[in-house]
Amino acid sequence: MIPPKQVQEILDAVRIEDVVGEFVNLRRRGVNLIGLCPFHGERTPSFNVNPARNIFKCFGCGKGGDAVTFLREHENLTYPEALRWLAKRYNIEIQEVERTPEQVAEQQLADSLYIVNDFALRHFQEQLFDTDEGQSVALAYFKQRGLREETIRAFGLGYAPDQRDLLVRRAKAAGHNLDLLKKTGLCSQDGARDFFRGRVMFAIHNLSGKVAAFAGRTMSSDKTIPKYINSPETEIYVKNKILYGAYQAKKAIRQYDECLLTEGYMDVISLHQAGIENVVASSGTSLTEGQLQLIKRNTNNLKILYDGDPAGVKAALRGLDLALEQDLNVKICLLPDGHDPDSYVQQFGGEAFQTFVAGNAKDFILFKTQLLIGETKGDPVKKAGWVKDIVASIAKIPDPIKRSVYLKECSALLEVDEKTLHNETNKLITTTIKKREEKAARQPGAASDSPGPFPDYDWPTELPPAPADADGAPEAPAAREKPMSRGDEFQERDIIRLLVQFGNQLLEKEGITVAEYVLADIEESLGNFDNPLYGNIASECHALLVEGKTFDQNHFLHHEQKDFSDLAIDLLTSPFEMSPNWEDMWHYPLQNQQAPELNFDLDMRQALDRFKLRKIQKMCDVNLARIKTASDDGDVDAMLRYMKIQQKLNETRNEVAKRAGTVVLVK
Ligand code: UTP
Ligand code: MN
Repeated sequence: MIPPKQVQEILDAVRIEDVVGEFVNLRRRGVNLIGLCPFHGERTPSFNVNPARNIFKCFGCGKGGDAVTFLREHENLTYPEALRWLAKRYNIEIQEVERTPEQVAEQQLADSLYIVNDFALRHFQEQLFDTDEGQSVALAYFKQRGLREETIRAFGLGYAPDQRDLLVRRAKAAGHNLDLLKKTGLCSQDGARDFFRGRVMFAIHNLSGKVAAFAGRTMSSDKTIPKYINSPETEIYVKNKILYGAYQAKKAIRQYDECLLTEGYMDVISLHQAGIENVVASSGTSLTEGQLQLIKRNTNNLKILYDGDPAGVKAALRGLDLALEQDLNVKICLLPDGHDPDSYVQQFGGEAFQTFVAGNAKDFILFKTQLLIGETKGDPVKKAGWVKDIVASIAKIPDPIKRSVYLKECSALLEVDEKTLHNETNKLITTTIKKREEKAARQPGAASDSPGPFPDYDWPTELPPAPADADGAPEAPAAREKPMSRGDEFQERDIIRLLVQFGNQLLEKEGITVAEYVLADIEESLGNFDNPLYGNIASECHALLVEGKTFDQNHFLHHEQKDFSDLAIDLLTSPFEMSPNWEDMWHYPLQNQQAPELNFDLDMRQALDRFKLRKIQKMCDVNLARIKTASDDGDVDAMLRYMKIQQKLNETRNEVAKRAGTVVLVK
């Protein structure tokens, strides 16, 4: 364990640009750095690193956080692993707290088990590639199933010949401890027989690529012998925490921000070989919470590929509420009759597979609802049962916005009153909360597992343009129209005032100048000024900073462009004036009209808040219009996406408003 004091020491030493810079090509843009986002595929950089705040943020995919978050996400490290990485990077020697003797023994046992498994893997591989029997029987089997040699090696496939105790003898001869071999389940408890005999072998890796267990498949089609047999659970193989293929898939899962889930070993391997690498298998069992958490660490999007019959699929759907609880977006794709992902991709190829999945994946809740409609035609009792079932699923979704979108959709599909569905859902949620509270009450002092406060991210970038048709825009109350019509000029002028008046003042806490801070903070809005003069000045200041130049009041007062210098004189000589209807519009307290030069720090933060508030309000308007369009089109995906954005915007707006002491009028 790393002592808390040292954790702080490490965090204090970290510079976000160093850390991210190890993995991403960054170039300077103003006081920020930008690059291509390593978490999603993109060609134009929207990945921002903000040294002043020591955070990163991608405006494309939304990922953001500090250096620890970056390492956890990018390198798939745990929290302590990330801290160790940073300690090493900054030459901080960690004085770990002593581990207990039990912990030490546990680690030693785990290490030894991995060593034995590693030996077994090499043994199985040798039998496959380097023996006549292996080549003619097992390698031929894999090749006949369409696997290439590089795939066979990448997934640690092998062969266990049909011999009584070949592995036991080999392991002994190599000096391995027989007790450890027994513990891994690779031989019988009396040590007389190998567990895997006459089977092709699949290594099961843990997330960091170590071999945790094996599976063996018979090559015979005799139905009386089990098709696959698996290693037993051990200290290093906890079945409900391992997903087959996760080690090989994790990078692609993060890259595509989606995890495909199949049922079988061969599905994972064949898809991977066909270039579809973001795929794991549950190994024929229903998903566990541990497995879902594993997925959740890498993506929020889960697409499940089913090859079973409808009855089997229906049963499987029940298990998926667990995934909803984790706030995963779940999609379901049924494969055509008689196919599993392996057979499909082997027959039709990766591209056809992708096309098929893209065309056939359905949102889980809607899938379930449609299944119900087909099943309960004309049977009200059955229908009532199913509706409860669906409502139960929806109630599991933690995100209220998502819930309401689903309720709306399902009410239309099921022809059940939306209010009724709402009430049912709320009842279930209340019961769940009560149960949780009761449970918590029974365990006093139990640590809360709620996530921490939202990190202090940069502001959302400007949203993509609104749909072209003005009809989609929400009606703005006439009363709002008037003050809005002057655009954001007052807020923009205020920003320019800050730049002119205090641009080169140093902010004590941040160690950068007001101009640097302001321009970094509004960088994304630089192209969006309503007043072109203010916009030009802001952009010029920005360009100067990029070139590493500084500027003071004289720069503006003696500017070669007359409108620049006129404005500067104006700003610097007349006392700052707020818009006459400012207070009416935003109820914004005008606290700092006196002697702002003594209080430029607060002045700056407030001006920035006012500026942002206006820009956010605009984004809200655009986004509301998009929600309406999506709703009219019945596009649930888009609706969900925009409502998420809306929620973020509202949160951000309220946060800023709270800080600014403003009352926001919600439309
Ligand atoms: P399947 O029977 O669908 O096999 O079982 P599969 O994956 O398509 O394998 P191939 O293509 O016939 O070789 C799905 C998964 O269920 C587990 C395995 O993980 C398998 O991949 N399973 C199946 C077992 O553990 N034991 C069994 O006897 C059968
Ligand atoms: Mn199969």
